[in-house]
Amino acid sequence: MKPLLLVIAVVAMATSVGCVNLKRSRDLGNPNIAPEVTAVQVCSNCHGVDGNSKSPNFPRLAGQKKDYLVTQLLNFQSHARSDQAARDYMWGVAGFSGCNSGSYWDRVFKCPGGQGRSLDSFWGGVIGAHGLTKDQIDGLADYFSQQPVIKHSGLPDFQEMFMGRAKREQSLAAGKAIYENGIAEKKIPACHVCHGPDAHGLAAFPRTASQHSAYIEKQLAIFKSNVGRPHTPMEQVARDISKKEMRDVALYLESLP
Ligand code: HEC
Ligand code: HEC
Repeated sequence: MKPLLLVIAVVAMATSVGCVNLKRSRDLGNPNIAPEVTAVQVCSNCHGVDGNSKSPNFPRLAGQKKDYLVTQLLNFQSHARSDQAARDYMWGVAGFSGCNSGSYWDRVFKCPGGQGRSLDSFWGGVIGAHGLTKDQIDGLADYFSQQPVIKHSGLPDFQEMFMGRAKREQSLAAGKAIYENGIAEKKIPACHVCHGPDAHGLAAFPRTASQHSAYIEKQLAIFKSNVGRPHTPMEQVARDISKKEMRDVALYLESLP
């Protein structure tokens, strides 16, 4: 065998049949790895082991509605959810469903490494096994939806430090009013109708209680801009919402258990 061919053969063998510790692996391209393992080994880096992320850059997933989690993972995978953070963080994780179709050479050239996936996934890409499978998505959504919501205590109340107690109380009250009644003159509907009386979500409508306020504000701005997360009822809800109203309702939602 020529040396180059030998190298290719050895690399191919190492990446396809190499020792895989199914309990520790970070390979997203291997559907044999249990979703709980992927959640703990991969997703936890940003979302926390139990989905109670500490950083406001990363949404909390704990206690989120399972159906909603499935939809969002599929939206990342099809690139339907395409705001900057989705592209930067979640497209690579979810893989691109567009790589599951097309010709062999299309896949080789258009999907190399699957948007920054590991070398393992490169080979996965070549053989067309791109993106989390339906079972992986279902298992990951199941795992995070079942984690209890835990609020991190012991941190200083930065919002109160920055805003002052009186201003924060005013903001929370204004946010509560928006959540419960909407804003009639702007035709903004009451949020509880879809997100539930306690904001714990309703059917496939997402939970928003205890979510990081910075993340909520960011999503409302994305819905308002109507790019990144288009074609949802939130388009109408957020069309005329002001920056202050976004902040008020976000602070209120974060404060809920
Ligand atoms: C490198 C950091 C990072 C990793 C690793 C990561 N995520 Fe994310 N995830 C993010 C960010 C950032 C967002 C917010 C994206 C946005 O604003 O559109 C997000 C959003 C999500 C959402 C949407 C949440 C919502 O409320 O709409 C889901 C679901 C999700 N991630 C699941 C996962 C799963 C499952 C894994 C592991 C397989 C994972 N993530 C790994 C950073 C990460
Ligand atoms: C008619 C139903 C409906 C109403 C009313 C509604 N929402 Fe939503 N909301 C949705 C749906 C559906 C989604 C999921 C959109 C998607 O799939 O991307 C959503 C998503 C969201 C998200 C993103 C959650 C996440 O984890 O990324 C936030 C934040 C939000 N809504 C806040 C609000 C607020 C605040 C109000 C009231 C001002 C409100 N919603 C009113 C249906 C509604």
